Amino acid sequence: METVQAYIETHKERFLEELLDLLRIPSISADPAHVDDVKKAAEAVAQALRSAGIPDVDVFETGGHPIVFAEKKIDPKKPTVLVYGHYDVQPPDPLELWESPPFEPIIKKSSTHPDGAIYARGACDDKGQLFMHVKALEAMLEHDELKCNVKLLLEGEEEVGSQHLAAFCASHKQSLECDVVLISDTSIINNDTPSITSGLRGLCYVEVTVTGANRDLHSGVYGGAVANPINVLSQMVADLHDEKGRITIPGFYDKVIDLSVEERRAMNEAPYDESSYKADLGIEEVMGEHGYTTIERASIRPTLDVNGIWGGYTGEGAKTVLPSEAHAKISMRLVPDQNPDDIVVLFTNFFRSLAPAGVKVEVRPHHHGRPALTPVDSVEYKAASLAMEQTFGKSPIPARGGGSIPIVSLFEEVLGVKSILMGFGLDSDDIHSPNEHYGIFNFYQGIRTIPYFYKFYAELKNGQPT
Ligand code: BES
Ligand code: MN
Ligand code: MN
Repeated sequence: METVQAYIETHKERFLEELLDLLRIPSISADPAHVDDVKKAAEAVAQALRSAGIPDVDVFETGGHPIVFAEKKIDPKKPTVLVYGHYDVQPPDPLELWESPPFEPIIKKSSTHPDGAIYARGACDDKGQLFMHVKALEAMLEHDELKCNVKLLLEGEEEVGSQHLAAFCASHKQSLECDVVLISDTSIINNDTPSITSGLRGLCYVEVTVTGANRDLHSGVYGGAVANPINVLSQMVADLHDEKGRITIPGFYDKVIDLSVEERRAMNEAPYDESSYKADLGIEEVMGEHGYTTIERASIRPTLDVNGIWGGYTGEGAKTVLPSEAHAKISMRLVPDQNPDDIVVLFTNFFRSLAPAGVKVEVRPHHHGRPALTPVDSVEYKAASLAMEQTFGKSPIPARGGGSIPIVSLFEEVLGVKSILMGFGLDSDDIHSPNEHYGIFNFYQGIRTIPYFYKFYAELKNGQPT
């Protein structure tokens, strides 16, 4: 393992340069204008895998964005690890809030990253993190130190709901067979406090339209006499929470598994400072469901949030108009055992019931994903924990994540395997936001840690002492 670590140290500058090249490709999966860029990123990732010494690399066309699948067989008696990651990124908007262009990566120091961070869209989510795996594999293969079989499944549609990956998994069950899925697409608590994500929230995303009159109207001539869809939508949205911050949809909480007092106590022991949390966000007070801490609200509790709301006149100056339509995009983060298929029905029925006579309501579902949990008493978790302990000098704490990676529950359903969520980002890395960045320390720490995961996993599986 010393040789692997020495190789990483010797080649670290090149690893970084290669990552910067990947970050220069604007692989925005949501934007049809960038289909060729997404494809280019897939090809670049495939090429990086080949240069890393992985012989079998395929780029599959899907009808959407391509899927990169690669495999390196070591020994049929050894366990097989399936690495999952995504090379697509979120749109960079609003562009004017970036301090440097999103696809021209630069290195800059920040308060959370005194050793410097890479500023670019996708730096942390997830190109920087998936590239750690490519480089860790390169280092292991170079020194014949890879002791597990490895498969890699890297997609270009994670940020838009992994639509084609689900079908790909179902039709390639055999080639995806593995003992565990390893994913770096989440965060640690901070650079002195390693953690492993022990669960993710699910997602139910809908778009709603409220329609009033059959055309826009003069707000003086008709105002007060005809429903204003924006007023109505605002009231309906407000009615979705009560004064205690609870979601009012009947049955919404029925399947929520409450944590034990002991589990809640343990999770609240994670380092968290409310005043720096507020200072970082520029807010005077936090807000959420009564009876729960901020850590709990952002991980083990379900939520309902408007992500966008529009209608009527939003241009310069004032135009007096009573709009015909109002729209909102609403996401619900789900926790075990809530099922998005049930939640979408509960939401639709309740939301419709909130509408007064005189408007029409349409609810259109977008993507869905189930929540996921990773047991912390498995051999796989132990291997990840030992690996992080090796590089951080302390044992990581399990922490539930608030974000969603819908494919994780699908791996469980279709392949029958659990995922280890060993991410190295920080929650403050501004993913999906302007000035996304990824710590240089975090990038290298990931590359250093991953080889230990394979080492410990192979040893634990073969019953050898570690
Ligand atoms: N990597 C994130 C999810 C994440 C981030 C989990 C940080 C835990 C901590 C992923 O790329 C993501 O953004 N997922 C989307 C869901 C998807 C269906 C668009 C999300 O959580 O909004
Ligand atoms: Mn991600
Ligand atoms: Mn993301």
